[in-house]
Amino acid sequence: MARQFFVGGNFKMNGTLSSIKSIVSALNDAKLDSNTEVVIAPPSLYLIPTRDHLRKDVEVAAQNVYDKPSGAFTGEIAVDQLKDANVNWAILGHSERRTLMGETDEFVASKTAHATDSGIKVIFCCGESLEEREANQTVDVVTRQIAAVTKQTKNWDQIVIAYEPIWAIGTGKVATSEQAQEVHAAIREWLKKNVSEEVAEKVRVIYGGSVSAKNCKELAQCADIDGFLVGGASLKPEFADIINAKI
Ligand code: G3H
Repeated sequence: MARQFFVGGNFKMNGTLSSIKSIVSALNDAKLDSNTEVVIAPPSLYLIPTRDHLRKDVEVAAQNVYDKPSGAFTGEIAVDQLKDANVNWAILGHSERRTLMGETDEFVASKTAHATDSGIKVIFCCGESLEEREANQTVDVVTRQIAAVTKQTKNWDQIVIAYEPIWAIGTGKVATSEQAQEVHAAIREWLKKNVSEEVAEKVRVIYGGSVSAKNCKELAQCADIDGFLVGGASLKPEFADIINAKI
């Protein structure tokens, strides 16, 4: 069965009530490919107004969620709070959280397990640094990050894997479609050997890193690229063109 194309928009720590309202209005008015699943992730403060004003065929994701049910965890958000706000997705393991906030493979895996056990779907990010790519460690790094998840959960039906080479994030240096396809195929092969053939076939592996209206169509043609996680361009009108990359 064909995997449904998936496009996420990660606003990161950008936007105001007014600018996010404009982005939501533009998305509401846009003609979007109905075969593509779309999820946008504004900063947590704006999740509820975004959810309330957004068209119902587009979902909302948090940019993080904690791995404990509730309690004295200042600054964190719980999965039940997301569900209470009708937010059904979270982005976890983004390289900015791994590198700037020191999130380890095990912590990201623990959050992924807790979120998916509790009914929150996860866009799980993995990816190598430039040094790791130059040392030919790309596949080792991404499969190590994914292996940490397999140790803590089997909920692969609730996970989308986002391959995001760190050197391509926000730099304008997009991976070539050959580079991205090679890593996506390697991820699928690893899942086949280490999880199951069924999971390898079904799980969506999306690409993130300087995706734009210009490069999305070529990337979208690759056999193992099932969509995109878009940063900067998700704040711009071209996001609709990226959602429509397959048509
Ligand atoms: O989560 C999105 C990625 O970090 C890609 O960001 O499209 O601005 O390079 P970018």
